[in-house]
Amino acid sequence: MDHMERIVIEGGRRLNGETAVHGAKNSALPILAGSLLAGGETVLYNCPRLSDVDAAIEILQVLGCKVTREGTTVTINSDTMTQNEIPEELMHEMRSSIVFLGAMVSRLSKVRLSFPGGCELGPRPIDLHISSLQKLGVRVDEQHGILDCSVEKGLHGAKIMLSFPSVGATENILLAAVMADGVTEIRNAAQEPEIVDLAGYLTARGAKIKDAGKSTVYVEGVKTLHSAAYTVMPDRIVAATYLSAAAITGGKVWVTDLNPADLESVLPVFEQAGCRMKIMRDCIFMEGPGMIHPVRNIRTLPYPGFPTDAQAPVMALLTLSSGTSVFVETIFENRYKHVVELCRMGADIKTEGQVAVVRGVKKLYGANVQATDLRGGAALVVAGLAAEGTSRIGQLYHIDRGYESIEQAFAALGADIRREGT
Ligand code: UD1
Repeated sequence: MDHMERIVIEGGRRLNGETAVHGAKNSALPILAGSLLAGGETVLYNCPRLSDVDAAIEILQVLGCKVTREGTTVTINSDTMTQNEIPEELMHEMRSSIVFLGAMVSRLSKVRLSFPGGCELGPRPIDLHISSLQKLGVRVDEQHGILDCSVEKGLHGAKIMLSFPSVGATENILLAAVMADGVTEIRNAAQEPEIVDLAGYLTARGAKIKDAGKSTVYVEGVKTLHSAAYTVMPDRIVAATYLSAAAITGGKVWVTDLNPADLESVLPVFEQAGCRMKIMRDCIFMEGPGMIHPVRNIRTLPYPGFPTDAQAPVMALLTLSSGTSVFVETIFENRYKHVVELCRMGADIKTEGQVAVVRGVKKLYGANVQATDLRGGAALVVAGLAAEGTSRIGQLYHIDRGYESIEQAFAALGADIRREGT
């Protein structure tokens, strides 16, 4: 990770051509955690080359698993797992490392983790993860940022009602429940496609899961899991980012290797903005509008609502619209950090609490800006592609957590974009 790297963009070029979407970070991470269940081997195809995935692989290795990686294929053998503690640095590197907890308590009777890394999106508590695992038979002692977990008589199924459909908590419950004794019922479960993907992987290994992707999910515990190969789903947020970039430049781009159904709440927003799209089985042709229309109200919600992760890239697009668009962010408290940076580029955005009011401007101008978080950083790249003059975007490690060399993807579509070192 080089903190001094920058992406430099000479904006104003129309994107043209074809680009493929890589595998989903948010599905690869819980699946990698799931690979340590029960021992055996997992071969994971389409696993994206991202720093968050590197961190997850490092955790598996620290725990004693054997991991090999060739391109986008990762092979994990967890027979040799011995360790029951994830070192603090690794927990802090990636908040989603908490998703290892559910898998670890299934495998070991004592597990120790520190609280996951603070995050740029405001407080991200783990209370739902903890209370759910307690229902499945995990004893949790919290002291000074350390979680000491123990399982005395093995995990057992339980009825769990989530007060909010947390993605991570639902994943942790699935991971802990697949080998628990008896049936687990998760009510108000997250319904994100990544949940369905994790369930698909676990099912490929012999787990018994019913209705993943619905609000109530049932898991019947099994005694053991076997080895399996599985292909990670396409990243729907990367797809939304590429589509936003094509649209803001008025380009014509085929975005391939995606699943349009996962983008059901995002595509109507592009349509309202005036984009013309051809939607095929696993690709979308995007033709950016001559004039971008405003979109009255975009409210981020749990799936199938508009994804909070697509809020920033789509906001970048609407900064250049011919009117006023309003965003309401209901998932995270502090998810408008990119707004200040977009305003440096000439955008007119006012925020108050959950609401952001985006008044379209005629032009964005190149500026020196900093990626504030993963999706906020991607939004700056989208804006830079359409801005007049040179944009320089720093703090790229945020973007690299979730996009495989974003500059190469856009350069291949004709953008004038490069990465500069120190
Ligand atoms: C996942 C995604 C992230 C996405 C988010 C919402 C991964 C690795 N990350 O994050 O990209 O933005 O879903 O779609 O998959 N909450 C609690 N207590 C808890 C857990 C969550 O209050 O125990 C709150 C959070 O503070 C937040 C909301 O629930 O306000 C959503 O969080 P959650 O759905 O858990 O998101 P993550 O799994 O962290």
